[in-house]
Amino acid sequence: MLLAETLVQQHDLPDEDLRLLIDGRNEDDGRIRAFLKKEASECCARYYHEEVFLRGLIEFTNYCKNDCFYCGIRRSNPHADRYRLSFDEILSCCRQGYDLGFRTFVLQGGEDPYFTDERMEKIVSTIHAEYPDCAITLSLGERSEESYQRLFDAGADRYLLRHETASKSHYEKLHPEQMSFDNRMKCLETLRRIGYQTGCGFMVGSPYQTTADLVKDLRFLKTFQPHMVGIGPFLPQKDTPFGEMSAGSVELTLFLLSVIRLLLPKVLLPATTALGTAQSDGREEGLRSGANVIMPNLSPVGVRKKYALYDNKICTGEEAAECRGCLERRVTSAGFHIVSSRGDSLIGVE
Ligand code: SAM
Ligand code: FES
Repeated sequence: MLLAETLVQQHDLPDEDLRLLIDGRNEDDGRIRAFLKKEASECCARYYHEEVFLRGLIEFTNYCKNDCFYCGIRRSNPHADRYRLSFDEILSCCRQGYDLGFRTFVLQGGEDPYFTDERMEKIVSTIHAEYPDCAITLSLGERSEESYQRLFDAGADRYLLRHETASKSHYEKLHPEQMSFDNRMKCLETLRRIGYQTGCGFMVGSPYQTTADLVKDLRFLKTFQPHMVGIGPFLPQKDTPFGEMSAGSVELTLFLLSVIRLLLPKVLLPATTALGTAQSDGREEGLRSGANVIMPNLSPVGVRKKYALYDNKICTGEEAAECRGCLERRVTSAGFHIVSSRGDSLIGVE
């Protein structure tokens, strides 16, 4: 309990203590976990009250030139049914989202060479001009510095690029040789230098992950000081090399959400779709453990099943409006309320 108390007071712990805390989290009849959950949720309420921010997620392409071993839309998956949304379809998702009260649009996709800088610039600048009161978040993977700069200049405000793991040797077990840990980390630095509100993150329970890897992830978060952190359990997708591996633990994901909230009190922390897929009330539990963001899907229902990063993904049959209503009920049941604002990061705000 001493380590947990120190984390609450100092918003940090030495690496060895973080390791002991993670490995010993179920000791003391679950009291350590319960204590950190309560402290994380109070810490979150101090800055964000009981408010939950919404991000409307538009999964606009599932073409990907990469081949991450864990991901269902990897290039070598012949069973992935590929799609790209047109410019008009993307704009129509934004219109629908705006009418439902969304003030942030997240454009996420595989690394699809079709979406050149010119095409992305046109999409971003049009959304920016039509919805000047909305934030635009991009999640397009690794691109050049020039490309990140052009999209920022076109009106993008935020960028999500999970680092996936802060351990180079672990990264190499999750990705083919052509993919580079150093480049991914360099991209994160570049994004922040350009001025994006930057999000990183990792999967919990990805194959071969050790507690030492998780400690590296937490240390990286504390050092990098991102505006947002996306974490969710690894979930197998049957057509990938990791299709037979075990899923990450919901309990550990919730615990780490609390630890991250306490390490970075003002961070924006989503309760992810993967968490809601792994356990039916996973997102509500995420909010109770220190998360304060939900990212409902705004993609057209016809393509949702195709953005299959992992099996059994939730919300693939629901219209955007149904998800919005369902979430409102879920968020309320967890004791929070949804706010219709851009939900910018408080980092840098006193
Ligand atoms: N292409 C962009 C990128 O690389 O950042 C964005 C899309 S990528 C599919 C979004 C995130 O999905 C990844 O960063 C990864 O953490 C997560 N993801 C992929 N496969 C997953 C799986 N099997 N289980 C859980 N999360 C997964
Ligand atoms: Fe999509 Fe509940 S949030 S159906």
